[in-house]
Amino acid sequence: MTDAPLVLLLSGPNLNLLGEREPAVYGADTLADHVATATAAATEHGLALEHLQTNHEGDLVEAIHGARGRCAAIVVNPGAFTHYAWSLHDALAAFDGPVVELHLSNPNAREPWRHTSVVAPVAHGTIAGFGGHGYRLAIEATAALLGR
Ligand code: DQA
Repeated sequence: MTDAPLVLLLSGPNLNLLGEREPAVYGADTLADHVATATAAATEHGLALEHLQTNHEGDLVEAIHGARGRCAAIVVNPGAFTHYAWSLHDALAAFDGPVVELHLSNPNAREPWRHTSVVAPVAHGTIAGFGGHGYRLAIEATAALLGR
């Protein structure tokens, strides 16, 4: 058993295809590889990590609700939901702890429709463009926000 603060890592649509999906943009590593990176970083900082990937907006909303009072922080790569899913904005606004937005690519350097994030206004910060290393950076940022 552990009383380590729990960090919820959320992965949005199409991230289950990492490793096969547009490797020139997203790299060759799978989502499982990235979760392993995040888990190792969390362990180093005395944090526990729980991960959920879903292709469904409502499932992400419910996971965020379920984190209220249970998780210390949320790291979220919302995939394309980043750019238009206001329900995620509102759910995250109702979460008390730190929120870190995470992207493998740098959406601001890509198509114009990716330049808007509806999650950014309710995130403490965003880590984007560092590929899989971003998963470690996001956990390190989270640990700092939690004073670990
Ligand atoms: C992404 C960037 C989004 O624009 C895109 O829709 C994704 C992945 C990233 O991690 O770079 O699915 O969130």
